Amino acid sequence: MGKHDDAIKFAERWLNIIKKADLDEATAQEISREAEENIYNYFNRKWMDYRKTITAEDDYTKTEWRGQGCCLYDVYGNEFIDCLGVFGALNLGWCHPEVVSAVQAQAGKTSMPGKEMLEPLKGALANLMAQVTPGDIQYSFFVNSGTETVEGALKLAILYTGKRNFISTIAGFHGKTLGSLSVMGKKDFRAGFQPFGGQTFYVPFGDADALEKQLEICETLGLEVAAFIAEPIQGEAGCVVPPDEYWPKVREICNHYGVLLIADEVQTGLGRTGKFWGVDHWQVTPDIMTSAKALGGGVMPVGAFMSNERIWKVLEEPNPFMHTNTTGGNPLACAAAIATIMVTLRDNLPEQAAEKGNYFMENLNVLVERYPRIYKNITGKGLLIGQHFNTPGIGYKIAAGLYKRRVLVSGALLNKDTMRFEPPLIITKEQINEVLNRLEDTIKEVDASL
Ligand SMILES: Cc1ncc(COP(=O)(O)O)c(C=O)c1O
Repeated sequence: MGKHDDAIKFAERWLNIIKKADLDEATAQEISREAEENIYNYFNRKWMDYRKTITAEDDYTKTEWRGQGCCLYDVYGNEFIDCLGVFGALNLGWCHPEVVSAVQAQAGKTSMPGKEMLEPLKGALANLMAQVTPGDIQYSFFVNSGTETVEGALKLAILYTGKRNFISTIAGFHGKTLGSLSVMGKKDFRAGFQPFGGQTFYVPFGDADALEKQLEICETLGLEVAAFIAEPIQGEAGCVVPPDEYWPKVREICNHYGVLLIADEVQTGLGRTGKFWGVDHWQVTPDIMTSAKALGGGVMPVGAFMSNERIWKVLEEPNPFMHTNTTGGNPLACAAAIATIMVTLRDNLPEQAAEKGNYFMENLNVLVERYPRIYKNITGKGLLIGQHFNTPGIGYKIAAGLYKRRVLVSGALLNKDTMRFEPPLIITKEQINEVLNRLEDTIKEVDASL
């Protein structure tokens, strides 16, 4: 018997499972049991514990199998309305047919960049990005995740300005690799890794005067700042919308102090908030932008950081290979992103998000009025919606109750008093109404228990 015979058999069995369209009851049970064991023993057992707490009031731990449109189905075929939306990656819903077919068509040709010949899809996507990004933004570099876009944006700002320090926002979320963590506004994630390279100073989000004050202090002390980085609307922090004058003022302040402005659009981009980009609400052109999550249409991971010609020069000279990767912007990712942008524009998804978001929020605000013991308030824009509960305990119970009623939501582990709704932008009014019904049903149960 060969050393790896068991591993080969194991992999073959899973390949057979991957190729199955439908599951019988016995296979569904087997997959579910194995998933639990494998994640517990070989991935991270605490993640399992966390998921179990969410499913504590139900009869079994759910294992996902397939997604379609706005719904995710478990191995037993139970349908969940997906209001978590892969934390903003699912603007087009699960397995959008036009994105899937673009990726399938490309997969039979080249899946990886050949690295010597010109890559036509990378060029086409870069051109398309220039067509849809604001102002003079023209160049893109492609990566595989959101945090990598922030890494690139920070490197670009350092290279261009020759300065090492940044200003970020309290509770801002920019990813969990080391560079991104260095501008992360959440102690839980950054504390164990400090100190980082340069210094990062933090200001409250939505307060342009605080940014100006901080820049004044940095100037006085000779602390040179490369850039200010912020999400147009804070996502992870609980869908925090800044005052209308904030972004235009921030733009002015950054110009005045000669500091670059980085807009992290990883979660807000591609129509999520009711405009193609979050900054489009305020007609602001950042110096550097990031995009990921929804850019791959929920089919491929792909991200990009973008900037204008003046700034991009430092990535071209003296060393054009100062920032590279192997698989970023591979043909499958580019095919997915091209299809995604086309569908987003053709189907007016930003407008759809604005309209459906208003409808959703209006109805959520009715629940806030009706159940003052449950809710603090609702925040957000478009289909990036934050529900804020009076206590973390209530937030947890609502998340668990919704899960039991087969609605997927973000029951944030570290932020239980806030719940995000980020459904696919293609969600229908009927599905929104269904979510609202199941939500009110849950609220009634929780309210009665208080
Ligand atoms: C605004 C923002 N930036 C960056 C990231 C990191 O993206 P990823 O998880 O793909 O690395 C996130 C993820 O939630 C995000 O919301």
